[in-house]
Amino acid sequence: MSHQSPVEPMQESQVTSQSPVTYHKVSDQFKVPHSSEPPAVNMMTDNGNKFKVANRVSTFGTNLWAEFSSLANEHKATNIGQGFPDFPVPEFLQEEVRKAVAKPSANWYTRAQGHPRLVKVLSEEFSPMIGREIDPMSEIITTVGAYESIFCTINAFVDSGDEVIIIEPHFDCYKDDMIISGGKLVRVPLRPQGDGSLAKNWVLDPTEFEGAFTSRTKAVILTTPHNPVGKMFTQKELEYVASVCKRKDVLVISDEVYERVTFDDNKHVRICSLPGMWDRTITVGSAGKTFSVTGWKIGWAFGASHLITQLNHVASCSTFSAPTILQEAVAGAFEYERTVKDSDESYFKWLPAKLQDNCKKLADAFSSIGMTPVWPDGGYFMLVDTSPMHWDFSADNTGREHDVDCVKWLTREFKLATIPTSVFYCDDHKDLGSQYIRVCCAKSDATIDAACAIVRGLSKKSHC
Ligand SMILES: Cc1ncc(COP(=O)(O)O)c(C=O)c1O
Repeated sequence: MSHQSPVEPMQESQVTSQSPVTYHKVSDQFKVPHSSEPPAVNMMTDNGNKFKVANRVSTFGTNLWAEFSSLANEHKATNIGQGFPDFPVPEFLQEEVRKAVAKPSANWYTRAQGHPRLVKVLSEEFSPMIGREIDPMSEIITTVGAYESIFCTINAFVDSGDEVIIIEPHFDCYKDDMIISGGKLVRVPLRPQGDGSLAKNWVLDPTEFEGAFTSRTKAVILTTPHNPVGKMFTQKELEYVASVCKRKDVLVISDEVYERVTFDDNKHVRICSLPGMWDRTITVGSAGKTFSVTGWKIGWAFGASHLITQLNHVASCSTFSAPTILQEAVAGAFEYERTVKDSDESYFKWLPAKLQDNCKKLADAFSSIGMTPVWPDGGYFMLVDTSPMHWDFSADNTGREHDVDCVKWLTREFKLATIPTSVFYCDDHKDLGSQYIRVCCAKSDATIDAACAIVRGLSKKSHC
């Protein structure tokens, strides 16, 4: 799709000395010049520039997803980069949408803090998992995707000057939400220990982690299963994080959108269920990831009511409520899943098995040409170490990180779209990620097979 303005902006070269009106660049996109009239607003002074972007968002550049998805589209590449499942929506989910549309009240606005049927189902689903009764009406909020839950959490609790600790590499939206809140992100990178080809060996250094806390620290953001590393924090690791957060008296924002995708014998542990953590943890989830329907954009957060109430204040003045039909359908999907629990019909049984199988196929393909996959504990993603290939892009002179050049080259020359890992780090730490590319295993058989065939055709000599 074109992002061009319908009115072509005036080119610099068209502004001649005869031109009676000189327009500010931004306003050019909205104006057709008319020689006999002065501009209604003097665009040449800062005060008069009504089109100047607000300061708090002025540092936002091109969104990384826009950059890499348009590259993938341009080259019609097999896309194993972005985290959208491209396999068909199962019949039971389609049926839930049909039933929802046919129900008159599901087409109306619903309760702002969450559609009653969905919050009830979420409470029934998660209460046994965390060993306490979650009050559906005061301790859960549903939102437009997990994105909105994270946005509301950060903007409800983080003031200008507050600090929030984040574990790197990290999902990008935390950073942008923090910019809007005026808070400061303090990054602590995961460090591969010993065999870095296992995600579980990417760990926090306690000295670095505890050294990141100051008197301004308000919260810690955790992601488990992790995007992009695929690490699932173990009970022991979470007990450690919890003990530090209690000692430092901070909030925990636990992003658990990939909770249903666990590989091998790994067990998903929820930090909110550890002793003393309920009152200080906001747990975020996503129906998009849970049922592989990322376009539905239904998310939720749960936690103590004094926390969730604050999220609701932010949500009420932005989206007010998430779409009723889709909340209704997600509730129906959870209810259906209960009736087939543990059977071969279970979606929650099929999904992790399928994604693990896909991951294994991709890992085998990359290994066969000498690249080193970082085997994930769970989640949608796997990192692949490109350094054994000794591909050298220095002659291209792009000035970008190695992984960015590598991803662009794979997309352009081999029609294989992946995502560079350095984009999940701050400028100071980009080197930690620049030898890795991220691939997504939540893809159809056709996409996985096509990607594996391309990978097997690459060689060390492909670029040197
Ligand atoms: C770690 C993480 N959190 C949150 C989200 C956003 O989830 P949703 O699509 O439900 O907004 C994503 C999406 O990729 C993600 O990777």
